[in-house]
This record gives sequence, structure tokens and C-alpha cells, in this order.
Amino acid sequence: MSGPVLRGERVLLRPLEPGDEPILRAAREDPSVADWWGAVEEGFPFTDFPAATRFAIVVDGEVAGLVQYAEEPDPDSRHAEIDVFLGPGHQGAGHGPDAMATLSRHLLEDRGHHRLTLSAAVGNDRAIRSYEKVGFRAVGVTEASWRDRHGTWRDEVLMERVVRP
Ligand SMILES: CC(C)(COP(=O)(O)OP(=O)(O)OC[C@H]1O[C@@H](n2cnc3c(N)ncnc32)[C@H](O)[C@@H]1OP(=O)(O)O)[C@@H](O)C(=O)NCCC(=O)NCCS
Repeated sequence: MSGPVLRGERVLLRPLEPGDEPILRAAREDPSVADWWGAVEEGFPFTDFPAATRFAIVVDGEVAGLVQYAEEPDPDSRHAEIDVFLGPGHQGAGHGPDAMATLSRHLLEDRGHHRLTLSAAVGNDRAIRSYEKVGFRAVGVTEASWRDRHGTWRDEVLMERVVRP
């Protein structure tokens, strides 16, 4: 897979490689991630696919997680949406904000976006705090917008980071 390699303070974001799948799948299936990302869909591709461009988050040479973006191509509503997870052994050490800041910089500076969005389930306070740390702000709560792996429809905090053109 091709694409840029992006350097953060401690993380490196690089295109996914076929060998990443077992590590990412184990991380994605861990309850600390599945609680907020939902159950792993059948055939979840640990590769790029048309709807999302994905990067491995690498810390000290080890694959720690995944960050992805999806772009709205309509020039009149152009923006990019971001999602992220770190495996259980890599959470709580500041790598999430580092990865988000690094990808945000790429989207704003290299890909010409002025508006970045994301959603976090109400209650995922660590995620919300880590996004606030890199300049996202909560703009409201969407109701019953995401069904978790236990079948419950959950509310989500919609967040955005905007550099007004
Ligand atoms: C959410 C996630 C990306 C955050 O990355 P991280 O590197 O673990 O985050 P950090 O350790 O840097 O913590 C970020 C901030 O949240 C704070 N925080 C940690 N736990 C918290 C909690 N329970 N409530 C509120 N704030 C909390 C930290 O103190 C830190 O803020 P500070 O630097 O001002 O003290 C990562 O934990 C993760 O992937 N979790 C599992 C999957 C997930 O939730 N993905 C996001 C779905 S929207």
C-alpha cells in the first residue's frame, strides 16, 4: 500500500502493511476498543478501502493502533472525518493525541481541508479529552446515532476542528 509516512512527536503514522493485520485485529477485538468501536464486522479490512484511508500508528517500532480518515469529496461541503484506536497496551500514554494531531496536520496542510470532524460515544471521556487536547471542540450530542456491540443505541458527542478559510 502506498501513501505518506507522517511523523508525530513520538508516533509514526504509515500506510498499513499486510503483516499488521494480526496485531490490529487483536487490538480491535479487545473490549477496551470494541466497547467504543463496536463488534468487529465480518470481513473488516485491515487495509485501505474506498471509504477510508488508514494508517498504522507505530510507537518505538511497534504497531500500537490504527487511525483513519474519510473524506467528503463534494467541494461545497468538503471535510474529513477521523477515527482512532490504540491497543490496550498502548493506551494512557499520550499516543492518541499525538496521532490525532499528526493526522490533523496532514489533512489541514497537505490535503487542503479546513474542517475535521469526529464522533465519540457519550461516556468515552478519555477520547473526548484527548480530542479536546488537539483542538477539537464538542458541538453537540447526536441521539441514538450509534449501536454498540450489546445492541444499545448510544448518543454521541459530535466534535469538530475548523480553520475558517
Ligand atoms: C481514546 C484514545 C485514542 C486516547 O488516546 P490515549 O493515548 O490513550 O489518551 P491519553 O492517555 O493521552 O489521555 C488523553 C487525556 O484524557 C485524560 N483521561 C484519561 N482517562 C480519562 C477519563 N476516564 N476521563 C477523562 N479524561 C481522561 C488524560 O488524563 C489525558 O488528558 P491530560 O493529558 O490533560 O491529563 C485511546 O485511549 C484509545 O484508543 N482507546 C480505545 C478506543 C477508543 O476509545 N477509541 C476512540 C473512539 S471515539
